[in-house]
Amino acid sequence: MKIFLDTANLDAIKKYNDMGLLDGITTNPSLLAKEGGDPQKTMKEISTIIKGDVSLEVVSTTYDGMIEEGKKLREYGNNVIVKCPMTGDGLRACKSLSVEGIPVNVTLVFSPNQALLAAKAGAKYVSPFIGRLDDIGHTGMDLIKEIKQIFTNYNFKTEILVASVRHPQHVVDAGKIGADVVTLPPAVLEKMLKHTLTDKGLKAFLDDWERLQAENPDLKA
Ligand code: E4P
Repeated sequence: MKIFLDTANLDAIKKYNDMGLLDGITTNPSLLAKEGGDPQKTMKEISTIIKGDVSLEVVSTTYDGMIEEGKKLREYGNNVIVKCPMTGDGLRACKSLSVEGIPVNVTLVFSPNQALLAAKAGAKYVSPFIGRLDDIGHTGMDLIKEIKQIFTNYNFKTEILVASVRHPQHVVDAGKIGADVVTLPPAVLEKMLKHTLTDKGLKAFLDDWERLQAENPDLKA
């Protein structure tokens, strides 16, 4: 399973990239707005830091606008994936950009049929937003199961990128279903690496080592 970080925060990107955990990044205008500053500079920088796929979202809503913007974003690097919204123009742009060799992530997907259409339009990634479905009383993970089944039945190459992840259990469930990618807010990734028994166990080991040092003043680690 690939792990992407869902953020435009450069410190978080560097931190988890240095741990070797990141296969890519997803951003969107809201995440860029949260960080402030010049969004284009930030997007360029992210595309340079990360070697894997970096999804950068268009803000045009017309076909022509998305094509123009998508091509500009792609100039930031060959790892740039153009993120287009799940609209008629977005799918048309997905088709054209994909044919030209510019990979597309179709975003804001909330139904299995939307995912099917994105795959038909040649998307490299489809991004179902599970947390936002949970928020309105649905079970977002059911959507992942349905998309997985459809893509498997017809051998679609489009990768399922589980988005709008809210907690570590979403990651476990996505992994069990066989989703290709999860994109995680830094806080979720941080929670994944923690366990109280790890902290407790480490403290006990260090306390015991301290006792040994007290018995052996020359002992060095
Ligand atoms: C994914 O590409 C989106 O940027 C993101 O996962 C949306 O998550 P949210 O519902 O927490 O805004």
